[in-house]
Amino acid sequence: MEKKKRLVKIWDVKHMFESSLIIFFIIGALTTTAVYYVNTDEQYTSTPASPATVAHSPSVYDSLEGCDLFSGKWVHDNDTYPLYKEQECPYIPGEFACGQYGRMDSKYQQWRWQPHDCSLPRFDAKQVLEKLRGKRIMFVGDSVNRNQWVSIVCMLQAVIPPGRKKMHKIQEVKQVQDVSLLTFKAFDYDVSIDFYWAPLLVESNADHPTKHKRTDRIVHIHSIEKHAKNWVNADVLVFNSYLWWGTPTLKILYDSLEDSTKYNVVTNHRAYRMVLRIWSKWVRTHINHARTQSYFMSMTATHHKGIDWGMQDNENCLNETEPVTKEHFWESGSDLKMMKTLELTLNNLKERGVDVKMMNITQLTQYRKDGHPSIHRLFYSTLKAKQLSNPSRYADCTHWCLPGVPDIWNELLLAYILRGLK
Ligand SMILES: *[C@@H]1O[C@H](CO)[C@@H](O)[C@H](O)[C@H]1NC(C)=O
Ligand SMILES: *[C@@H]1O[C@H](CO)[C@@H](O)[C@H](O)[C@H]1NC(C)=O
Ligand SMILES: *[C@@H]1O[C@H](CO)[C@@H](O)[C@H](O)[C@H]1NC(C)=O
Repeated sequence: MEKKKRLVKIWDVKHMFESSLIIFFIIGALTTTAVYYVNTDEQYTSTPASPATVAHSPSVYDSLEGCDLFSGKWVHDNDTYPLYKEQECPYIPGEFACGQYGRMDSKYQQWRWQPHDCSLPRFDAKQVLEKLRGKRIMFVGDSVNRNQWVSIVCMLQAVIPPGRKKMHKIQEVKQVQDVSLLTFKAFDYDVSIDFYWAPLLVESNADHPTKHKRTDRIVHIHSIEKHAKNWVNADVLVFNSYLWWGTPTLKILYDSLEDSTKYNVVTNHRAYRMVLRIWSKWVRTHINHARTQSYFMSMTATHHKGIDWGMQDNENCLNETEPVTKEHFWESGSDLKMMKTLELTLNNLKERGVDVKMMNITQLTQYRKDGHPSIHRLFYSTLKAKQLSNPSRYADCTHWCLPGVPDIWNELLLAYILRGLK
């Protein structure tokens, strides 16, 4: 009973984005993407690669062996952070470019994640690129994963001279809706960092990167190959899938997405279990684990309910400029049962000899009520008077400003990837 109530609550929270807004929000996400990709295409010239000078430092990540990187606290550190400046990364779309959209404070960019039992090495973009030489990294999932993908590109791109990198080019801005795969390339390192849109992993009615809505969720349960055939050539796969399971129930189709006569309506938890089972079978049978490392990002917190940290019920992440300091803070929208399902799935895979590491970033995102764009982002529809008169109604407390919290997810991810690439 309690659980059911919470589900409904989660759904309520999602309603804070008015439903029409949600649609535009997503349509726009990729539209902006289009605009900035077109603008940042760069010419390939044939300057020879500069030789590596970092071969002496293969072990900075070795000291982390055995340390729980996810158990720790946020420490203000304006010497080290931010790792890049918002205006110096040409690839940040309007949905994450908070400064450009009027956010005046900057402390949210200056937090280091301090694990209790060890310290992360200082981030060094050149060294990371050198270690990733020849590799293709692919992020697969929803807009939070795209948020993380943009972050890692920004973290690395500053040390690559103009003309030696390229962001995915889309000829026609209007055609962007058909593009599920976005690619960043660093030529001299032969590194490719990609994002693939698949918010529910298997085929679904949310597959169109722009024309979809968040209600009336339909998944075609046995159809994973449609997307997954695009994932097999990666050296590192980074999955996520959580937010789109927020509707209380989903429709599960068995034959085809077009021909929807045979279906079941099941709870989101059941559907998530079913899809993760299909996904694990695919991972087990289609991935060459001698080549490819796989990761799954755990769910990230949203901050829609100010009451969780002692504000009024109708307040949210809007105007928040400091993290929550209370240890183990947990916001009421985070569905622990979903996280347990993921954990179980990955444990089962491990028993079968397949190691997909869960990047347990959930707790560290819980504290960061200050990290969201709120109203400081590009919105893709004209806001209604009713919304404008009450900005918390359209505040985005789901995504994350860049530079910001996703940069730390990437530092943690890289700590794992680089150890595995030895
Ligand atoms: C994730 O990390 C938090 C913080 O260390 C910890 O409390 C929690 O048990 C971890 N969850 C899983 C599934 O490992
Ligand atoms: C860094 O933060 C400290 C307080 O923690 C502050 O006194 C100092 O002015 C800050 N420096 C910069 C460059 O913002
Ligand atoms: C947020 O801050 C702005 C500017 O300081 C203020 O006008 C507004 O009332 C604040 N909103 C909330 C919900 O606190």
